[in-house]
Amino acid sequence: MQDIKADVVIIGGGVAGLTTALGMVGRRVVVLTKAEFGKGGSTPIAQGGIACAMGKDDSPILHAADTLVAGDSLCVSDCVDVLTREGPAAIRKLIEVGAEFDRTPDGELSFGREAAHSRRRILHAHGDSTGAEVERALVAAVRRVNYIQIIEKCYVGDLLTDGDRVVGAYGIVNGEVLRVFAPAVVLACGGLGRIYQYTTNPIESVGDGLAIAARVGAVLSDVEFVQFHPTALNTKLDPLPLLTEALRGEGATLHTEDGYRFMVDIHKDAELAPRDVVARGIWKMQQEGHFVTLDARHIGERFPQKFPTVFGFCQQAGIDPRTDLLPVTPAAHYHMGGVCVDQNGHTTKKGLWACGEVSATGVHGANRLASNSLLEGLVFGARVSQNIVEVSDFNEDLHQTDTATPHIPTFITDDETADANLLRQTMWDDVGLVRSEESMTRALNTFDDIRHRHAGSMMLRNMVDAATMITQAAKERKESRGGHYRSDYPLHSDTPEHHPFVFTGNGPWM
Ligand code: FUM
Repeated sequence: MQDIKADVVIIGGGVAGLTTALGMVGRRVVVLTKAEFGKGGSTPIAQGGIACAMGKDDSPILHAADTLVAGDSLCVSDCVDVLTREGPAAIRKLIEVGAEFDRTPDGELSFGREAAHSRRRILHAHGDSTGAEVERALVAAVRRVNYIQIIEKCYVGDLLTDGDRVVGAYGIVNGEVLRVFAPAVVLACGGLGRIYQYTTNPIESVGDGLAIAARVGAVLSDVEFVQFHPTALNTKLDPLPLLTEALRGEGATLHTEDGYRFMVDIHKDAELAPRDVVARGIWKMQQEGHFVTLDARHIGERFPQKFPTVFGFCQQAGIDPRTDLLPVTPAAHYHMGGVCVDQNGHTTKKGLWACGEVSATGVHGANRLASNSLLEGLVFGARVSQNIVEVSDFNEDLHQTDTATPHIPTFITDDETADANLLRQTMWDDVGLVRSEESMTRALNTFDDIRHRHAGSMMLRNMVDAATMITQAAKERKESRGGHYRSDYPLHSDTPEHHPFVFTGNGPWM
């Protein structure tokens, strides 16, 4: 076992984690990344851009208003204000550290329009490769400073605690246990789309952050809200390649195999209706036995240059989007809920902060407005670093008083594979786009069975705990709102309420 002492340990190397790290100038910062540094997680594969009120006809107030509408009355409006007001400065800073966004011929930033945004405010890089550019710029900036140590391929198993407070994290690197002690621990380890059978999320997104925060008793909030992207390329690939919403913004339309453009009959905005409405529209067609395609052929010869990432995916699948229809399916894409934090990203546990997708700032409410998540990582990552500097005592002597550093398998073992797949299938079928009391009770029984069948690798434990928490929370929300739709409670309740809770666990692993 190896022990390291740092001022802050950050779990995750995407936009939120690296922004936090860069903000801790002159401190001893350790960043633990599950994948190779700069390669894994959701940031590098984010196609959609960054929403930011920087255009001449735009304002943070307008951006906030659109965010609140998308959030279906469940946003925390103070946090939305923070996001939209502090967004422009965060973007300017990102440009200062080297990020290059698409510009007009006269060199001005070019702002695209997306569904549910009332202004052109979406910044892109190389068309649909925005996340890759953001990650590239942040990784390069981290490499230029000497106060950040990156430890890659480290699977964090749990947090280290001293009584009620978090004092570090432990993980497995190269088969060995590593303990990093720090007065400030930051969860920035992304989401959990991979607990669903169909997802756009990378292999890292299995709910680790949610599960390890839950196990130290941090309050979680609104975890039932999962966003399903309407249009993933319907192939056998896992994850499914995303077909960015910008395609529908450019006029691409959805059809069944007989040419029926069903969204016209479902919503006045047709394909540009809110994401959850379009996703459920496709799901409904699929349940009726139809095969759904996206027709983007009108983009024609502009396609490869305007959507290079999507074009590459299509080529790999043997499809030419200039001449062929694109087979599509909804897929789990983003987790709106997470570890409950205040405006500074501080959780309810002393010593623990969270930012990015793993956190629940409340900016996304019940349904995230497209392209708000990279901005959230930038704005709240910066706030977390500032808050840590303000409140932490970096000279403290820290000790772990629990004994939770078991050396157990990191990834799904061979004998767990079938049950990991069963979990993902169950989440898709029973806790997916359409949920009910009956389907969720069935799902919880399945998760209990899985828990009793295995000792549990770190990854399986986290997947089962995350799936269980989402399902329990979704059962308790007896209404439909945003990304959470129940066939047995199809309407809004009278008063929108947040759903904070502490997970008590219900199985042999807890
Ligand atoms: O469709 C997209 O490009 C996705 C954007 C997002 O999830 O923010």
